[in-house]
Amino acid sequence: MKTLLFGLLALLVGSAHAADDARVLAPMPAAAEANLRSEMRASLLALNEILALVAAGQLREAAAVAERELGVSAMGKHRSQPFTARPGPHMPPSMHAIGIDGHRAASEFARVAASGDREQTVAALPTLTAACVACHLGYRLR
Ligand code: HEC
Repeated sequence: MKTLLFGLLALLVGSAHAADDARVLAPMPAAAEANLRSEMRASLLALNEILALVAAGQLREAAAVAERELGVSAMGKHRSQPFTARPGPHMPPSMHAIGIDGHRAASEFARVAASGDREQTVAALPTLTAACVACHLGYRLR
């Protein structure tokens, strides 16, 4: 009985979750999606590296990774590829704007971290993930 109840509960929670999914569907060609996903995984790795460097007090190194991997320097990586392989131009403008804001925020974080001020750098950490969260809560590819 207990397992049955639990199963029912899981089912209810599961379907409520699907019904609550208000994310906008923003599909793109397969090549663009593949590039987006691989860039996303690299961003996740970079984020973890930055957190570890900040925790270890290596602020200038954290600044360098933030600028190189997430900052404005990391924008337009696929510019030389065919149109169908470029994620940015296939995004709705509001989605694309979140992405650009995220790159700018990471560059701003890099500037703060490069100053070597630990307190300000720690205070700026949430600005690194704000765009990830905003875009993931707002959009999906499938
Ligand atoms: C402009 C929008 C946008 C921003 C900004 C963004 N993402 Fe994503 N991300 C997506 C979308 C869309 C998907 C695919 C979701 C789906 O499957 O429908 C995705 C998928 C992912 C995935 C799964 C990749 C895979 O192999 O399937 C990871 C990991 C990820 N994002 C990490 C991040 C991190 C970390 C950040 C911030 C540094 C970030 N993303 C910022 C839009 C964004």
